[in-house]
Amino acid sequence: MIYIHFVCVLAIVNAVFSASQGAEIKTNDRPIIGVLAQEVYNPQPGRNSYIAASYVKFLESAGARVVPVTVLFPGGGVSIERSGYSRAASLFYRLALEANLRGDYFPILGICLGFEQLTLLTSGQNLLSHTNTSGVALPLNFTDESRHSRLFKDFPGDLMKSLASESLTENSHQWSLTTANFTKCERLKKFYRVLSTNTDGQNEFVSTVEAYEFPIYGTQWHPEKNAFEFTRPYIPHTSSAIKTTSYTAQFFVNEARKNRHTFGSTEEEQKALIYNYNPVYTGTESSFEQKYYFD
Ligand SMILES: *[C@@H]1O[C@H](CO)[C@@H](O)[C@H](O)[C@H]1NC(C)=O
Ligand SMILES: *[C@@H]1O[C@H](CO)[C@@H](O)[C@H](O)[C@H]1NC(C)=O
Ligand SMILES: *[C@@H]1O[C@H](CO)[C@@H](O)[C@H](O)[C@H]1NC(C)=O
Repeated sequence: MIYIHFVCVLAIVNAVFSASQGAEIKTNDRPIIGVLAQEVYNPQPGRNSYIAASYVKFLESAGARVVPVTVLFPGGGVSIERSGYSRAASLFYRLALEANLRGDYFPILGICLGFEQLTLLTSGQNLLSHTNTSGVALPLNFTDESRHSRLFKDFPGDLMKSLASESLTENSHQWSLTTANFTKCERLKKFYRVLSTNTDGQNEFVSTVEAYEFPIYGTQWHPEKNAFEFTRPYIPHTSSAIKTTSYTAQFFVNEARKNRHTFGSTEEEQKALIYNYNPVYTGTESSFEQKYYFD
């Protein structure tokens, strides 16, 4: 079975790159974060895959630079089981587990499709259920465990209150991991602490997780859209909504600062950075204001 995600896009965002340097933890104040591109539906010359610019701005706004990770798997399509996106995600997931077990801090953030991908990679199965969540902002229903979470630890108390009561988290997905399916899966339960849930009125689903033993995080909602996407009326832009974008970005980029990987040379680094590409204004025809396209 192939799960196609029409509205829900990206991102497994991961702090990466080549040879690890030194074991001692010192902050890396020049973090570079890889963002997975995904295949377009109708490839054209020079436009085989893309990254929504909002993911790039999200990370840049918190002090990171971005490298696009483009891995094509012809005939893919946006599937979490068979696509270049899913293959690359699987590779980075494995590398992250191995690195972290060696004491080499390697964080991953999966957003929306990326979150769904993480649940598949961890459980080894596709446990997703269809939900009515294509284009709706919701408050988070925090679990008791969220109080001790790494992800929300530095969020101000008033923002946590707003997140719990106002519709600040935008959902653009047709598939979700129901709390029931999560609870039935030992592998998922052992691996992830559930920080929040939501419901579409019928089914309760998991909306935020963090791994117990690894710096691996997932949000079914889109932290990056609030500040950077204005194409849809249901994307919230209140002051609290923008803070949600900021604090989530700050959190993840801080995680990336604990990673000491570097490129082999400055030249290699310069060649890889997303600054080599120009975003295109796509807001007139797409839900994304701007996209980066790749060959
Ligand atoms: C997941 O939940 C759905 C109901 O939403 C169910 O049909 C499906 O069988 C569940 N999957 C597993 C593996 O339990
Ligand atoms: C889906 O959710 C929307 C609210 O987000 C609601 O208006 C609509 O009736 C729901 N559709 C179904 C089939 O439940
Ligand atoms: C929040 O989660 C609790 C525990 O699962 C549940 O009892 C409650 O109905 C949920 N509230 C909402 C608004 O979804």
